[in-house]
Amino acid sequence: MKEVRFTILDNDPIAANTWKMKLSGDTSAICCSGEFVQIALEGKFLRRPISVHDVDWETFSIVYKVVGEGTAAMARMLPGDKLDILTGLGTGFSIDSCQSKALLLGGGVGAAPLYQLAKELCAQQKEITVVLGFNKADEVMLVEDFEGLGAKVYVATMDGSVGTKGFVTDVLRLKNIGYDFFYACGPMPMLKAVCESVKGRGEVSLEERMGCGAGFCYCCSIQTKNGPRRVCKDGPVFKKEDIVW
Ligand SMILES: Cc1cc2nc3c(=O)[nH]c(=O)nc-3n(C[C@H](O)[C@H](O)[C@H](O)COP(=O)(O)OP(=O)(O)OC[C@H]3O[C@@H](n4cnc5c(N)ncnc54)[C@H](O)[C@@H]3O)c2cc1C
Ligand code: FES
Repeated sequence: MKEVRFTILDNDPIAANTWKMKLSGDTSAICCSGEFVQIALEGKFLRRPISVHDVDWETFSIVYKVVGEGTAAMARMLPGDKLDILTGLGTGFSIDSCQSKALLLGGGVGAAPLYQLAKELCAQQKEITVVLGFNKADEVMLVEDFEGLGAKVYVATMDGSVGTKGFVTDVLRLKNIGYDFFYACGPMPMLKAVCESVKGRGEVSLEERMGCGAGFCYCCSIQTKNGPRRVCKDGPVFKKEDIVW
């Protein structure tokens, strides 16, 4: 874990209520996809946990949805503004669990951490299929980014305005997608439906309210088949078979 003062390079809307922020600074503590950072915001006691969307040696990006005061304040920030961020938090995705064909399932802003995962899987020459679910057309995002990595991308929207009408699980029912390991991130009802209906081995990234974000306060504990686990330290990524729904 490392506390770093980052400088905002870009902060732009990319879909309805959703922004992408690129920051420059010391990214050395960010090790793998599925990790998250904790962002300190003026006037807020608790830092805001946000997943790493994309990372390289000197910059990293986040994609965030404006849902409350903290994320609204982030959306008002400008290039050049500084943010105090705890980096290198959480246990991320295990890319070695996939032999050759990966299935990535993202719901809403849950698509964000799957991009860095896709980059890492690509570097290992793995074949990637991405299925993204949104409520409606103006929320659809990151499709070209995944396609740019060579992934096959399917979209589902609840109102049918883009792609398949329904959930990501409806795409899986209708398309014959080959994979040996799946990775999922999104709202809890989506993750539960995925784990109940998607065959084979996989991992899901969970969300919980967090305090310290670093394993000390136990306020993010959940029950798993192996006993209580902290989402911030033992997760946020857990194996499908370990989760108690
Ligand atoms: C590991 C992890 C990764 C996340 N990654 C992303 C991401 O990549 N993009 C994104 O848009 N959102 C992500 N979230 C959710 C994000 O943390 C919340 O949307 C955000 O904290 C809301 O802050 P707020 O001040 O705008 O909302 P408020 O509702 O005003 O927040 C009040 C308090 O509740 C907490 N809180 C609110 N919603 C959530 C939530 N869903 N999960 C956890 N804590 C919450 C806040 O951190 C804050 O402490 C992630 C959450 C976790 C736990
Ligand atoms: S948030 Fe403190 S232990 Fe997880």
